[in-house]
Amino acid sequence: MIDQHTIDRIIAAADITEVVGDFVSLKKRGTNHLGLCPFHNEKTPSFTVSPAKGIFKCFGCGKGGNSVNFIMEHEHLSYVEALKFLAKKYHIEVVEKEATPEEQQQRNERESLMVVTAYAQRYFSDTLHKHSDGKTIGMAYFKERGFRDDIIEKFQLGYCLDQRDAFTKTAIREGYKLDYLVKTGLTIQHNEDTFDRFQGRVMFPIHSISGRVTAFGGRILKTDKKFAKYLNSPESDIYHKSSILYGIFHAKKSITQENKCFLVEGYTDVISLHQAGIENVVASSGTSLTVDQIRLIKRFTPNVTILYDGDAAGIKASLRGIDLVLEEGLNVKVTLLPEGEDPDSYARSHSASEVLDFIAKNETDFITFKTRLLVNDAKNDPIKRAGLISDIVRSISVIPDSIVRSVYIKDCSRLLDIQESVLYTEVASQRRKKMEQVLGKIPVESEIKTTPPVPNFVSDISCEEQEKEIVYFMLRHGNVEFWKPETDDEQDISSVSIGQYIINEILNDDLEFKNLVFQKIFNEYLSQLEINPVVENRYFVNHPDSQISQVAVDFLSTPHKLSKIWDKHQAFSEEDVDFLHRVVPKAIIVYKSKIMKLAIKKLHDELTKLSPKTQVEEINEILKKIITLNDLQNTLSKELERIVL
Ligand code: CTP
Ligand code: MN
Repeated sequence: MIDQHTIDRIIAAADITEVVGDFVSLKKRGTNHLGLCPFHNEKTPSFTVSPAKGIFKCFGCGKGGNSVNFIMEHEHLSYVEALKFLAKKYHIEVVEKEATPEEQQQRNERESLMVVTAYAQRYFSDTLHKHSDGKTIGMAYFKERGFRDDIIEKFQLGYCLDQRDAFTKTAIREGYKLDYLVKTGLTIQHNEDTFDRFQGRVMFPIHSISGRVTAFGGRILKTDKKFAKYLNSPESDIYHKSSILYGIFHAKKSITQENKCFLVEGYTDVISLHQAGIENVVASSGTSLTVDQIRLIKRFTPNVTILYDGDAAGIKASLRGIDLVLEEGLNVKVTLLPEGEDPDSYARSHSASEVLDFIAKNETDFITFKTRLLVNDAKNDPIKRAGLISDIVRSISVIPDSIVRSVYIKDCSRLLDIQESVLYTEVASQRRKKMEQVLGKIPVESEIKTTPPVPNFVSDISCEEQEKEIVYFMLRHGNVEFWKPETDDEQDISSVSIGQYIINEILNDDLEFKNLVFQKIFNEYLSQLEINPVVENRYFVNHPDSQISQVAVDFLSTPHKLSKIWDKHQAFSEEDVDFLHRVVPKAIIVYKSKIMKLAIKKLHDELTKLSPKTQVEEINEILKKIITLNDLQNTLSKELERIVL
């Protein structure tokens, strides 16, 4: 952990225009700076940087935040990593919590493994470019495959000489420890004997998400069935095969920009697509996908298109992997390449636009793909057909979003010619089964719905809009001077700030915001007020809780029109103090009145649910409450009428 003092220093130093300016070319427009958004494709700039507020905001894609958020988003770093990144830029020494000796040792060991691996990458690349065998064997192979020089460079491809221990010997002579060579799998040790793992293979370095080489894949050049076509580095402290995707480092920027990721099988598929100009592509390296790999993609985009070889025998088996992807809530499509082609061969014989065109025309959502693939097998066989249906139902049932599920159910009902209601029942029962596995048995009363759910878009059960408005005023105009309007008591015209006024109004009635982020902001505002009567916006913008800082950035960068009030009074400027003095109390009353309404509705619901045996006293009790609330509601309405906007 970085200590708070250092964090404060970093945030204070990291000037937003400078930080963003390293990545985006900005033009000054009034008090702000304007540029093309690095997070989505745009032709006219809607990406704004406000030096005064210390924030950026894109009015195209909605992304916004402070310097730290920008680096997190742009470089795909965690909060702490982003802070370290900025510390480096501004030469601030990062004071970290003391690591225990074990932690220190583990870190040193990992670092040593990385150093050895980086050395090996340089060695193999040098061999490819400079050694005579490297040139005539390794390079000749890449050239024959049509790889361009810039691509060979970009992916840091290499060659390992076809000698017993040329690499190991050189490495040891240069001072690298055998222990680390063995732990990274570059060297194989048999009793006293040591030799190179990748003898006579062309080398594909595997990069971590931040671009460091952590492992290798080596391809054999002979076509001898006795040897595996690819050899890969073994698992080590720096390489966990199941949580990395080949190409992610080179693809991440493009994946974000295109908001889409292509998933292929092999090293050469990734490289050839890059060479064709399609860079948002990663490979699962021939194994079925893992949850970690899926989450890695999800950090950049929810949209995945899997490209299958036209003749892949394993398609049906790999469909099992798709359920995993669906379960993570990703949006999966599938494109089957023409017979005999894989992404590598197709990209070499077509231009980028032809490849993209083919994908766009042929990509199918997974359910249609799976159904079409299997439906022929099952056509005239009722048992197979039943199996297919439950198979597809299982896939649909793992999708977390109920609306997406119902879209699939609709499609599937058409494709399989089965009533939607039957599918709903099946999906519900699958989900229930799964829940039971997770939670243990749940009682039968939570009955299975057999009809499609009616999406409840009219959310009459929330006062979130009103809460939002209040928090908006608090953050944006909290420091504006305020006095209670229309009090008879002269003494009472003491000046408080709008922020203080809002706090008093909420606390006096013991109210709590239902939206947890708003409530957190409220609490923080309260504690800030206790320190200083003027609350700095930067406190919220730079808040370590990303939900808080996100809301702050949104509110501070979005010019009014936040609420319905603005719709009706566009003529008023939000900066008009008189206007604020009327509109803020109004917002409070509207909020309170909404709470009353909800409370009354709840009591009415209680009344309708009463059994015929309920005592009269009980009914009267509820009615009394309703009457009291109605009274209050009327009072509020009258107050509301008095506030003329
Ligand atoms: N793979 C592996 N070990 C093997 C075969 C394959 O690790 N013995 C992995 C590699 O990551 C490979 C991927 O599975 O890239 C896909 O295999 P395949 O399609 O056979 O290889 P290609 O990448 O197409 O390689 P090439 O075009 O050179 O044949
Ligand atoms: Mn291939």
